Amino acid sequence: MTDKRTILRAANLCKTYSTSSEQYHAIRNLDIDIYEGDFTVIMGNSGSGKSTLLYLLSGLDSVTAGEVLYRDRRIDAYGEKDMATFRARKIGFVYQGINLVPDLTFLENIALPGYIAGSKKSDVKSRAGELMERMGIESLRNRLPAQASGGQQQRAAIARALINSPEIVFADEPTGSLNYDQGVAILDILTEMNRRGQSIVMVTHDMKAACRADRLIYIRDGKVHGVLEFGKYGLAREDLQSREAAIFAYVAGKE
Ligand SMILES: Nc1ncnc2c1ncn2[C@@H]1O[C@H](COP(=O)(O)OP(=O)(O)OP(=O)(O)O)[C@@H](O)[C@H]1O
Ligand SMILES: [Mg+2]
Repeated sequence: MTDKRTILRAANLCKTYSTSSEQYHAIRNLDIDIYEGDFTVIMGNSGSGKSTLLYLLSGLDSVTAGEVLYRDRRIDAYGEKDMATFRARKIGFVYQGINLVPDLTFLENIALPGYIAGSKKSDVKSRAGELMERMGIESLRNRLPAQASGGQQQRAAIARALINSPEIVFADEPTGSLNYDQGVAILDILTEMNRRGQSIVMVTHDMKAACRADRLIYIRDGKVHGVLEFGKYGLAREDLQSREAAIFAYVAGKE
């Protein structure tokens, strides 16, 4: 039993990729609830369908069959215009690998989804400034991505995901291309956002990152293979070590 509210639900979800020679069933009759205010972590082997699942839950890609419900509304049935509005207003997405626009500055990259959403330019700019400050990259506003470190670029990617004050932030391996310290800094930012009430859905391969989860969903062959529930992160060190050990044992048992 849980008193958490479902913010996103996938029901009997399927995604089949078709190439000229074959069909690949990346998501197969998957059911899952994502709860409001949770830091949800998705794990699973490479190719198990994690990125695909994020694209379907966030409306970035269309479903082959089944339903995606955002607060009981079927977003999979949305037309292009409603979907674009949903994505702009409700969703922030931090992509796998850092993908800032190379010839836009940090400020321009972060502000871009705000302009696309049609918000007032001056409001977008001032919010971008606030977010850069929060992420500790305010001195980089006029730099191009190539002129900054990977960790700084990833902070900008998170700021960009937050520019429209989304209800849910998706992050696909946000620490995957970072060194240890940069990775911990990004996880601390995400944890802090979650403490403030931000719902987060993060894909990771990293046990240290998975420890930040309230709830861990393990995907295998495009299906939910198991769910582990935790309390909020920020426990005593020995509790965290036991959490990491529990995740390690769980994942090892699944693979
Ligand atoms: N556009 C596509 N066309 C055909 N097959 C695809 C396409 N995109 C993904 N796939 C296949 O669907 C499966 C799931 O891919 P997905 O990117 O969701 O995996 P993943 O779990 O995110 O893997 P990773 O951990 O390596 O990022 C893979 O077998 C992949 O090869
Ligand atoms: Mg992936």
